[in-house]
Amino acid sequence: MSDNIPEDIKDEIEKLAKELNYHSYRYYVLDSPVISDAEYDRLYRRLKELEDDYDYVRPDSPTQRIGAPPLEKFEKVKHTEPMLSLDNAFSYDEVKEFDRRIKRLLDTDEEIEYTVEPKYDGLAIELTYRNGLLFRASTRGDGYEGEDVTQNIKTIRSVPLKIEAVKIPEEIDIRGEVYIDLDEFEKLNRQRGEKGEPLFANPRNAAAGSVRQLDPSITTTRRLYLSCYGIGTVKGINFKSQSELIKWLKGSRFPTPAKVEIAKGIDKVITAIKEFEEKRGDFSFETDGAVIKVNDFRLQQRLGVKTREPRWAIAYKFQAHQGTTRIKEIHGSVGRTGVITPFAVFEPVRIGGVTVSRSTLHNWDEIERKDIKIGDTVVVERAGDVIPHVIMVIKEKRTGDEKKFPIPEKCPACGSRVVREEGEVAVRCVSLHCPAQVREKIIHFASRGGMDIEGLGEKNVELLYSRGLIKHFENIYKLKKGDLLELPRFAEKSAQNLIDAIERSKHAILAKFLFAIGILHVGEYAAKLLAKNFKRLEDLYKVTPETIIEIKQMGEKIAFSLSAFFNDGKNIKTLESLKSLGLNITNQDFVSSKTAEKSLAGLTFVITGILPKSRKEVEDLIEANGGHTSSAVSASTSYLIVGEDPGLKLEKAKSLGVKTISYPELSKLIEKNQKIQRCSDGQINL
Ligand code: IVH
Repeated sequence: MSDNIPEDIKDEIEKLAKELNYHSYRYYVLDSPVISDAEYDRLYRRLKELEDDYDYVRPDSPTQRIGAPPLEKFEKVKHTEPMLSLDNAFSYDEVKEFDRRIKRLLDTDEEIEYTVEPKYDGLAIELTYRNGLLFRASTRGDGYEGEDVTQNIKTIRSVPLKIEAVKIPEEIDIRGEVYIDLDEFEKLNRQRGEKGEPLFANPRNAAAGSVRQLDPSITTTRRLYLSCYGIGTVKGINFKSQSELIKWLKGSRFPTPAKVEIAKGIDKVITAIKEFEEKRGDFSFETDGAVIKVNDFRLQQRLGVKTREPRWAIAYKFQAHQGTTRIKEIHGSVGRTGVITPFAVFEPVRIGGVTVSRSTLHNWDEIERKDIKIGDTVVVERAGDVIPHVIMVIKEKRTGDEKKFPIPEKCPACGSRVVREEGEVAVRCVSLHCPAQVREKIIHFASRGGMDIEGLGEKNVELLYSRGLIKHFENIYKLKKGDLLELPRFAEKSAQNLIDAIERSKHAILAKFLFAIGILHVGEYAAKLLAKNFKRLEDLYKVTPETIIEIKQMGEKIAFSLSAFFNDGKNIKTLESLKSLGLNITNQDFVSSKTAEKSLAGLTFVITGILPKSRKEVEDLIEANGGHTSSAVSASTSYLIVGEDPGLKLEKAKSLGVKTISYPELSKLIEKNQKIQRCSDGQINL
């Protein structure tokens, strides 16, 4: 297809890809973006649009980072140079011994120059670039043969798809470590804990588990990082030393270790290691040691390799951050989504220079699995600066007085009965009144997709909440201008604006309201579907899971969640009191399930050219009416929607005999279908 593309379009595509890659580098490698996220998204959307319209995608295009289909299995990849591992040193004496051995082997008394780098605790990866383009990414495997994980590695935004350097080697294998930062590790485990999935024991397992995913769309949701510290086969470029290599990598936009010290003589090496160990907690990633390498590549060559480890490098291992203590108490804490997470209170213990007195226990299954009881003596580990974890119970220390901690039946924050969905580990509080969740719920309620109360964003909700002015949804509709005027952020006009916005929101549409009240699992789409099937809010009171499951596209999870919500007396009281405060909910979407399925159901649409509305809006409209959208024209496309300045898709549609329509014709099509359905249904008068 690329032959037919106008030169100016090709140029624009190249310019956009380069610009986006540069901004990714600023964001993900340098951590210093120079454009806003919105501007990045705008450029990205423009590139995607051109690529779709002209069927022309460059190999270094940022759009190539996502969208690869899941694999059946990973292909094997042989490394042209084996990927070695490292010998360990556990004391400064062993580090000194390493230096003496090197001097002996090189037959010299002169001080050796070393580099000292943090040892990343992740998964070793080899990136093969051919003529500057990323050709393949593979895992270390057994050192000789690994697995092809190219699609997954491409989802890591800091991995360059193209080498940006003055001199581009014909071929180069760049080696580094893929790792997950500690915040992301915590977050991932918290989410897994809530879902009842097994937790990752450490950041290394989390990184490895994320890379070795057959489905790249899972990898892309994990924020992974890369640090490049070595090379394998190289053609067309020469490096003299490790420090020169790191400099070249940095200059070519590769992420490199957070710190690389050059130290002449082993005493300076030890000083550098000590500094690393002290700063260990400052790094955002897990580091379990420092890697010491002879800097000069010629000397490395002369020293050679033992069996699997080079003689020119060693890993100094830091002390493990572990300690032993006793669990005094176990409690549940309620998160903003209502999930109740157990945590342990310890007898305070110093681990790696920090006093630890509590730790999350993740979920109730984890407590069962590890057989943790109140009074138990446990081994606790701290990874970097993050919250510690209970590694294991020392059963030998049990006295018989230890007590099990049962799953709570009531929410520790509000006392409501908790819900545990079938097959789920998470225990939740679904009350609208729970103080632990109320702030988040109100922010969501007032948000654009919900009741759209302008001026009631995060900051103002925080403020009103902290002053005790809104503790429940109802309070929003009881706010008076005078209350606002007493607050620091409000003046006459802003107070009036907020009161007006609140007043306007009283005329609510059922679909929006159902989304706004934040029922577990009920997103915008599900809320719309409900509004199509239940005419009035009250029709949902006391709803049973069976009734919900009957609706096409509604699953068990949503069914149980809705039924728990609408069978909670306190929740119903809140809904009723909102109504008595003036909330007037109407529903124009109600068409009953029979007809709701019809509208554009079974039809597939592709868009080309510029439409009067944004692509996202048009796609949403199609999907809301039951249709599907696709980015490429094929024989199964029902309609191509043609806007101004159409691309090659138009020709393709014509050659395949696919029908074409304009945007106004699409609107008519939707209307026409709805009219047909409503008339035949006889339920709604137009
Ligand atoms: S150099 C022959 N540098 O540690 C040299 N490795 O325990 C081998 N690692 O397989 C690699 N950070 O996955 C090197 N700055 C660093 C490293 C590093 C982490 C990993 C690497 C290696 C393992 C050996």
